[in-house]
Amino acid sequence: MQKCIESDQPIPIFFAFRCVTVDIIFEYMFGRNPYLIDREDWGQGFYDFWRSLWEISPWLRQFPSMLKVLQSIPRWVLAVTSPKALQVMDMETQAINWTKEILSADPKEMETREHKTVIWELAHTSSLPPKEREPRRLAIDCNSTVAAGFETTGSALSHLIFGVLNNERIHQKLLDELQFEILDPEKIPSYQELQELPYFHAVIREGIRHSIGAMGRQSRVNPKAAMSYKGWIIPAGFAFGMSAYYILMDPEIYSKPHDFNPERWLAPDAHEKLHPYFYPFGKGTRSYVGQNLALAELHIAFATIMRRFPSLKLYNTTKDDVEIRHDFFAGMWKYEKGDMGLQVKG
Ligand code: HEM
Repeated sequence: MQKCIESDQPIPIFFAFRCVTVDIIFEYMFGRNPYLIDREDWGQGFYDFWRSLWEISPWLRQFPSMLKVLQSIPRWVLAVTSPKALQVMDMETQAINWTKEILSADPKEMETREHKTVIWELAHTSSLPPKEREPRRLAIDCNSTVAAGFETTGSALSHLIFGVLNNERIHQKLLDELQFEILDPEKIPSYQELQELPYFHAVIREGIRHSIGAMGRQSRVNPKAAMSYKGWIIPAGFAFGMSAYYILMDPEIYSKPHDFNPERWLAPDAHEKLHPYFYPFGKGTRSYVGQNLALAELHIAFATIMRRFPSLKLYNTTKDDVEIRHDFFAGMWKYEKGDMGLQVKG
């Protein structure tokens, strides 16, 4: 980013954020870092790859057996008929190869690594039955977690930066707090300390709310008993679901819900009126267990960028570019291969 600012080049921040979230989640899952952050194309090739999967995901959700059909089609046929599906298949093969590679590592070397690796820990836990610890199963689970982890967090960061840079007053208020509280931009405080900054924390909440997180309907089944809701009876074993969108954009809870308004989280009654409806991570027993990882990433990455680069401005980006257009489980913006997406300049 520094180099771009010095040479007055635009920064494709949509991709830059995903580089950060991909590198982090890969380290956790596979114990290897693809260093997208150092790539010339800002990880755009990698994103194209995943976008192919997102685009066929509504089909896979309705017809899960489609994946098996795709797997049985020869590569060359897919290359001609559906290059996107081929990319998805290749991605799965790559994850399986990485899984096998890490599982054949020297246990002593794994023990001395600075961080634990999810795939290694899952393969060696007695809490899972052996069939759930097979390399193929582990690879697919870890690949799904990469998908769940990088797009949601990358999207929240993108909504955050747009919301802030699109409003001079909010931007200035945020900079005032960050510059007062963080004297040395090279020494960014910990996640716990950043959570204590009231305006910054309110901005983060508002960005997460706007990004929705899991836009797709979160399915639930009560296998044991019928349930009643507003006069409706949902029979036992019957799947039902709801998108977080309907809570996070409900005007009766969040007034003018489409406005980016961090102040709403600082109102005296916010704790009582808004917090119980803060639903991006779900609620209850199925709520997202890794939300502290996501929140830590968001706080640290966003504070670092805003504090180190106070002169950032939106470039070639309007509200239309950051409108959620697709429910590919995560809510996604319009995108054509080659688009630069949300950009900023320093
Ligand atoms: C702002 C960021 C994030 C948001 C808003 C978010 C939101 C959610 C929600 C709402 C669910 C529950 C879906 C359901 O009930 O069906 C979920 C599940 C999940 N998330 Fe996240 N997530 C975020 C970041 C991450 C990250 C960084 C990871 C990587 C570790 C991750 C991995 C997962 C996984 C593996 C599941 C499935 C858990 C299960 O099936 O029990 N998410 N996430």
